[in-house]
Amino acid sequence: MAIFIRDNYDQMSKAAAKIIAKQIKSKPDSVLGLATGFTPIGVYRELVRMHKEEGLSFKDVKAFTLYEYLGEGFDIIKPYGLDKSCARYMHEEFFKHVDIKKENIHYFDGYTDDPAKTCEEYELAIKKAGGIDLQLLGIGRDGHWGFNEPGSSLGSRCHLVGLTKQTLDDNYEDFYRKVGITRDEMPHFCLTMGVGTILEAKKLIMLASGTKKASIVKEALEGPITSHVTASAIQLYGGEVTVVLDMDAASELSNVDHILHLEKMSKKYNLRAE
Ligand code: PGA
Repeated sequence: MAIFIRDNYDQMSKAAAKIIAKQIKSKPDSVLGLATGFTPIGVYRELVRMHKEEGLSFKDVKAFTLYEYLGEGFDIIKPYGLDKSCARYMHEEFFKHVDIKKENIHYFDGYTDDPAKTCEEYELAIKKAGGIDLQLLGIGRDGHWGFNEPGSSLGSRCHLVGLTKQTLDDNYEDFYRKVGITRDEMPHFCLTMGVGTILEAKKLIMLASGTKKASIVKEALEGPITSHVTASAIQLYGGEVTVVLDMDAASELSNVDHILHLEKMSKKYNLRAE
């Protein structure tokens, strides 16, 4: 696994966007798996900038959103701030600003009344598209990868998960409390790509930013592989994986100076060491 540590959020975002842009340039019909949440917003902004200023085109790119809250869905009638669906997030933060085709955008149907069937169909749609070339991921404070909360099997496929108390607390404080939605009304379940689905992507980028993520980043990268920190499955991944961190998120890793040194040496010799 290659670990890139950058001084701040902005630099982290630019480094990740550069990897994605390189992927698209080398394979214009790349299949991307895309994460939502606070962390990747800077990556999407940088990709939009590259599209507008440098002509980076997404016209043949296919995109699969990583997860969707059950009961949430794209609702253009609602202002963006009140529509918390991942589909809407991807539209507002990224898709509407670039030239991706509508028919190439895939997301879980959060309004489904048959989650198992929706998950099966999503898994199949990924296969039909030829599999995910590059999957962008964050990491939750409880170590979730996608929305594979602690306890999700490391072999899981697309499935429905119940959110942990930590995630519910985070979502409530970050969003629902501010818009007057009660704890009982907020989404408690999520349709997500499974850890097994994620591990089949050909390349991975995992992002983390801020001191709030420092201890879980350490657990995921240096701790035991366990379904209680589903992001620790990154240690099992056999493809090309790049972990892009800002200095705060990297601060508890045991070997930051050495990681920085190795990256410098890799650049010097134009090598990529995993
Ligand atoms: P965040 O979420 O970027 O909003 O912290 C990360 C995640 O849930 O993967």
